Amino acid sequence: MAEAMVLIEERRVHVDDLLVVSAAHQVHKNNQVTLNGQVLIARPSRYLLLNKPIDMICSTVDDKYPTALSLLKVDRLSELHIAGRLDVDTTGLILITDDGHWSFNLTSPQSGCEKVYKVSLSKPISLDAVQQFHKGVLLHGESKLTLPAKLEIINPHNVLLTITEGRYHQVKRMFFAIGNKVTSLHRQKIGSLELDIDIGEWRNLTTAEVKALSY
Ligand code: URA
Repeated sequence: MAEAMVLIEERRVHVDDLLVVSAAHQVHKNNQVTLNGQVLIARPSRYLLLNKPIDMICSTVDDKYPTALSLLKVDRLSELHIAGRLDVDTTGLILITDDGHWSFNLTSPQSGCEKVYKVSLSKPISLDAVQQFHKGVLLHGESKLTLPAKLEIINPHNVLLTITEGRYHQVKRMFFAIGNKVTSLHRQKIGSLELDIDIGEWRNLTTAEVKALSY
């Protein structure tokens, strides 16, 4: 971006036949962008999925833990970001891209995109938890109930939770709100995309997968 701004200031960039004088100049995918009269071809955006291990963070820098992005052996790593972060002690499916528009729409509460978590609990799940989560619970310090969530009980200490929001530490706080405690958390699905690779591994999304997650 900084490099592009210098080129714009030097009056070397045109969009179609118009000289670009500001970095805020709107460019449509059908426009032709030239630098010194040479046509520029846009690189296609990148979309990846990674099975995040425990003790890795989803932000870019931390004093204690390495970033999950360091597992990717790809060029121009600094251009990528994680769409929908997981806590350092949470494992599972994360999506990585350089397409800010795609990740913004995907993670926006309006998308209604379902996220499925496998949750282990310190106490047996209470009988009315399914109803409570369906109706919505009040998270500590908040004034709005959580949106309806689906709870499936695997056994008293292990459940699947499907939510469509992404509030701060949402899953842990939802169980705290009903008097329980999460002991391990794993995201196994986002929308129609199910985790299908081993822990620490990553792969590119297919075009169909990207489209299915475009909101
Ligand atoms: N909810 C949490 O509490 N933590 C996560 O990492 C993801 C969802």
